[in-house]
Amino acid sequence: MTALVTATDLKRSYEVKQGWLRPPAHLQAVGGVSFALDAGKTLAVVGESGCGKSTLARLVTLIEKPSTGTLMLDGVDAVDPPAGAAKTLRRTVQIVFQNPYGSLNPRKRVGAILEEPLIINTTLSKQERRAQALDMMAKVGLRPEQYGRYPHMFSGGQRQRIAIARALMLRPKLLVADEPVSALDMSVQAQVLNLLADLQRDLGLAYLFISHDLGVVRHIADDVMIMYLGIAVEHGPKERIFARPLHPYTQALLDATPGLGRKRQRIVPKGELPSPLDPPKGCVFSTRCPYVTDLCRTQRPLLRPLDGRLVACHYAERFLDTQAA
Ligand SMILES: Nc1ncnc2c1ncn2[C@@H]1O[C@H](COP(=O)(O)OP(=O)(O)OP(=O)(O)O)[C@@H](O)[C@H]1O
Ligand code: SF4
Ligand SMILES: [Mg+2]
Repeated sequence: MTALVTATDLKRSYEVKQGWLRPPAHLQAVGGVSFALDAGKTLAVVGESGCGKSTLARLVTLIEKPSTGTLMLDGVDAVDPPAGAAKTLRRTVQIVFQNPYGSLNPRKRVGAILEEPLIINTTLSKQERRAQALDMMAKVGLRPEQYGRYPHMFSGGQRQRIAIARALMLRPKLLVADEPVSALDMSVQAQVLNLLADLQRDLGLAYLFISHDLGVVRHIADDVMIMYLGIAVEHGPKERIFARPLHPYTQALLDATPGLGRKRQRIVPKGELPSPLDPPKGCVFSTRCPYVTDLCRTQRPLLRPLDGRLVACHYAERFLDTQAA
């Protein structure tokens, strides 16, 4: 079976102005990311602020083109689509953002918000559009009488349900969710995560689920990709990574997550995140890693298979022995 999404060595850099006298610098927001995602599955992308998660989301949702690399969506070249394929591609993937209020037009009623993609992309009649909007409202747990209400009349969690409903109106196969619950209270987070799980089961959706919080992705992910300064440092099945993290940065993230931290050998990264304008030459984590050696400072470790996942650390083997699976 071919994957629904295949990304190969995706890179995206930006020119950043540095004042009048200095030439612009190149900031590599995504520095070579590869993954495959099957229909109906969830890949969680996790890492701290600025590691390139939203940039990756924009590449996969075709909002921006990668500087280099390839992206296949449902068997179609999404970077350089064949003639006539662009419209279908845009329907294949949709996005939900962190801030459900900012992404909803405050002057439009829920019904109009949900029907807008149908007006633009289909020839459905007014009655058919209304029927589909009401059907989708029911799927996301909104009541029919809320059809005529404005976004400000809803709570944060309900607004995120509206944003999810809108994203699903064109029946995409892939939903990219960029921190979809980060702005919500804990109890509401769980409700929205449950809704996403139900929708995935009912509609066969694949999710690229972005979060800075491993606790949030714990239940929803099939695979997890841990990013640091624009690259993946560990990537593989959730069970493997949660049970036995092999990259020190993954270990640090887990240790910082309530209820998930390891009892022994807790890792707290040293110092601050380096500037993405001046990333470390060797291992990206070398300026903060407690296990750093001279080799780490000079040679960048490549992602390599070990213990059923990919990991980019010169010394990952040593963590196989010290952590019980
Ligand atoms: N349009 C742009 N121009 C210049 N730099 C950018 C642009 N977009 C992103 N960046 C930079 O690229 C890096 C990655 O940003 P990105 O928004 O993808 O990170 P993120 O992981 O989503 O962070 P957060 O958790 O804060 O949302 C950051 O250093 C950011 O400043
Ligand atoms: S390669 Fe070295 S610096 Fe990088 S994570 Fe592994 S031990 Fe730490
Ligand atoms: Mg972001």
